[in-house]
Amino acid sequence: MSEKSFHHSWNGEHAQKFAKSVENMKKSRYIPFAEEIHEFVDLYVKNKNPIILDVGCGPGYLLIEIAKTIPNSQLIGVDLSEDMLHIAKEKAKEKGLNSITFMQGPAERIPIPEAHNDVVVCLNSLHDFNDANKALSEIYRTTRESGIFILKDKNGAYPKWKVVLGFIPLICKSGLKKTVKYFKSNELWLDPEAIKKKMDELGFKLEFLEKKLDYLIVGRK
Ligand SMILES: C[S@@+](CC[C@H](N)C(=O)[O-])C[C@H]1O[C@@H](n2cnc3c(N)ncnc32)[C@H](O)[C@@H]1O
Repeated sequence: MSEKSFHHSWNGEHAQKFAKSVENMKKSRYIPFAEEIHEFVDLYVKNKNPIILDVGCGPGYLLIEIAKTIPNSQLIGVDLSEDMLHIAKEKAKEKGLNSITFMQGPAERIPIPEAHNDVVVCLNSLHDFNDANKALSEIYRTTRESGIFILKDKNGAYPKWKVVLGFIPLICKSGLKKTVKYFKSNELWLDPEAIKKKMDELGFKLEFLEKKLDYLIVGRK
């Protein structure tokens, strides 16, 4: 997993466009993942008021769903983009969720002390970070002993023809031009086996791994 530059800006118009493009994915993306997170929290986390950090939280839709699914949780969102965080704060405010803490900072240097979080979650962001390995080290550092890391992202090792087939519904919905643009981001997707190896080196114990077009991996410190 090599270091790369912030490949495109997540600020300004791009932040607005992204927030809008995923706003209607509540049912297909954010609610199901919040429910999966809930199950893993029930299974592994003893703290009844778990501190949950979302790294690369973007417009905050996942945090909003976690707040509903795990109402006793203490939620933190970290993102590099000020504009994305501005959107997230507004969205949370609209929902009356004033207790979510949003912090600006890089995943490669998370502005949170050591062993602070019971749970770290990351959705479709790891492949966008400048340095995924550094981000994983930081996630490990900020996770409490026996805390968990739940990562979902696009699978860079998924056969290309299957990726194309998986995008057919997107072509119907969003058109070919948008789909091709999205497909190009496929070059950045990471191999879950490389993530698993890095997590293992850091000291995470693997609890769950599922590899489809998206992969889901859960490690416990
Ligand atoms: C594809 S979006 C996903 C956002 C959110 N997790 C979601 O699923 O709606 C990727 C996010 O990662 C953020 N990001 C990119 N590089 C980052 C970095 N080095 N540190 C923290 N956040 C970063 C971007 O600003 C953006 O909000």
